[in-house]
Amino acid sequence: MVKIGVLISGSGSNLQEIIDACNEKRINAEVAVVISNRQNAYGLERALKSSIPAVYIDPKKEDFNKKVIEILEKYKVELVCLAGFLLKISEEFVKKYRGKILNIHPALLPKYGGAGMYGVHVHDAVIKAKEKVSGCTVHIVDEEYDKGTIILQKKVKVLKSDTPEILQKRVLEQEHIAYPEAIKIVIKMLFEKTKNH
Ligand code: GRF
Repeated sequence: MVKIGVLISGSGSNLQEIIDACNEKRINAEVAVVISNRQNAYGLERALKSSIPAVYIDPKKEDFNKKVIEILEKYKVELVCLAGFLLKISEEFVKKYRGKILNIHPALLPKYGGAGMYGVHVHDAVIKAKEKVSGCTVHIVDEEYDKGTIILQKKVKVLKSDTPEILQKRVLEQEHIAYPEAIKIVIKMLFEKTKNH
C-alpha cells in the first residue's frame, strides 16, 4: 500500500475524497499524514475523524519546507498530494520528491494557471474570457507553478447563467472524481510493477 501525505490549507473536500477512495479500496494507498499551513483548516478535523495524524506547521517559520519534509519522512510518505494547498513549495522539496508530488487545479491547464490563479479568481477569469468549457487538472508538481506534466483533466461546461461561485461548485464536483482517478494512474505508473505473463 502506497503511503500518501496530503498537504492542505482549507476545507479539505478533496482530501476527504482521497481518504474515502483509500478506505473503499478504490486506490491501493493509505493517507499516512495530513499537513496544513493553517491551524484552523477544516481538513485537519477531517483527518482526525479518520484517525489520520494531522499536523499544523507555521508557515511563518523560515524552515517551513524542511519541517514539512521531516514530517513526510517520519510517516514514510511515498506520494505527496497537494489538495487546496495555497503555498508554493521549495525547490528542495520538489527535488526530494521529484515526480511524486501531485496537485489539483480548478481549470484546464495550461490556461488559467500561475500566480494569483486560485479559488474563485480562476472561475472569475474563465467567465470574463467567455470560455465555453472549463474543468480541472491533476498534474505533477515541478519548479514552475502549474506547469508540470498533466495526469488527467475533467471538463465542465460553462453556462451563460454561471457566476464564479456556481462554476466553482461544479468544477469541484469533478475535482472529487478526478483526484482519486489520477492517484490510481500515478500509483500504477510509479509503484506497481507490470506482471510478465
Ligand atoms: C480546489 O478547488 C482545488 O482545486 C484548489 O483549492 C480547492 C480546494 O478545495 N487547489 P478543498 O480544500 O479540497 O475543498
